[in-house]
Amino acid sequence: MRWSPDFRRPVALVVAGTLFSALPGTASAEEAHPPGAAGQGLLAATGIVHGTAQGALVLLAGLAAFAAVVWLPVSRSSGTRPDAGRYFTRGMWALFGVLLFAGLADLSLYAVRVSGEPFGFALFREALFETRSGLLWLVRIGLGFAVAVVISRAAREGRPAYWWTATGLGLVLLATLTLQSHAAAVGGALPLLSNWLHVVAAAFWMGGLVGFPLLLLGPLRKASDGGRTLLRRMAVRRFSVVATVAVMVIVVTGIHATLLNVPNAAALVGTSYGRALIMKLGLFVLLLAAGGINFVDRGRGLFGRMVGAELVLAVGIFLAAGFLTSLPPAGAP
Ligand code: HEM
Repeated sequence: MRWSPDFRRPVALVVAGTLFSALPGTASAEEAHPPGAAGQGLLAATGIVHGTAQGALVLLAGLAAFAAVVWLPVSRSSGTRPDAGRYFTRGMWALFGVLLFAGLADLSLYAVRVSGEPFGFALFREALFETRSGLLWLVRIGLGFAVAVVISRAAREGRPAYWWTATGLGLVLLATLTLQSHAAAVGGALPLLSNWLHVVAAAFWMGGLVGFPLLLLGPLRKASDGGRTLLRRMAVRRFSVVATVAVMVIVVTGIHATLLNVPNAAALVGTSYGRALIMKLGLFVLLLAAGGINFVDRGRGLFGRMVGAELVLAVGIFLAAGFLTSLPPAGAP
C-alpha cells in the first residue's frame, strides 16, 4: 500500500485549526498565564504537548481493545489465523514511547506554568513526587508500561486472556485522564462517569485507526489477494459495529461535557476553550465523513488512504482536546 500525498489538505486544516484555538479570546481573563508572547507560547506548547500525551494514552488503550474485540475474533473465524501480534507489539511500544516523552514534557510545562519559575531538575522532581499531577503521571507511565508488556506476552503466547487483560488495564489507564479532567474539578459521579465513557469510546474508535494500518502493513500485506479481501471485509464489518456504538457514546458524553463547561453561545465563540471545542467539532464531522466512506466502501479501493486521512484528523482532535483540558472551562470566572 502506498501512502499518497492527498494528506496535504487535512494536515493544513489541522495546523491552522490548532493555531486558531491558541489565539487569545475576548474573555482571556480566564487564562491565568502571564500576558504577552511568552504566555501565549507556553499556552500553545501546553495544549500541543497535553494533546499528544492524551492522544498516545487513548491510542495505546484503543489498540489493545482493537486487538481483543476486532482482530482476535476475525483472525480466529477466518480459519487462517494470520498473526498480527508482532505488529501490535511494535505499535504498542511506539505509543508507549510517545506517552513517556510527551508525559515528561507535559509535567515539565505544568511545573513551569504553576510555579512561574524557570525549568530546573529540582522543580521537575518536586512536581513529579509532590503534586497530584506528578503522581498521576507516575501511575500513567506504570500502567502504560504494563499494557505494553502484557500485549508483548499476548503476541508471543496468543492466549485471549492476555489480550483482554491488556484491554482491562487500558480502561484503568483511561481513568487517570478523568481524574485530572474538569469533570474531576466539578465532582460528582455523573460528570466523572461521563468523562470516562467519553475517553473509553474515543479509545475504541481511535484504536481502529492505529490497528488497521498495522494490519495493512503486516498480516494483510502477506495474505493472498482473496485472503486479504476476506480478512479486510470481516475486520471492517466488525469494526464498523464497534465504531458506530463508540460514536454514539462520544456524542452523548461530548454534549454533556459541553453543557458542563460552556454556559452559553457567547462563551462558545468568545473564549479560547470554546474555539478549541468548535475546532474539535469541525474535525469530528470530517472524521465521521471519512469513516462513512470507509463503511460504505467496506474496505475496498480507498481504504488505505481513508484510514490515513482519518488518522491525521484524529491527531487534530487530540490536539484540540489537549487545549480543551489545559484551558479553564469557558464559563470560569
Ligand atoms: C473522535 C472524536 C473525539 C475524541 C477522540 C475525543 C477525545 C477527547 C479527549 C481525549 C478528551 C480529554 C478528556 C479529559 O482529559 O478530560 C476530550 C474532552 C472533551 N470532549 Fe471529546 N472527543 C471526541 C469527540 C467529541 C465531541 C463530538 C464532543 C462534543 C459533542 C466532545 C466534547 C468534549 C469536551 C467538551 C471535552 C472537555 C471536557 C473537559 O473540559 O474536561 N468531544 N475529548
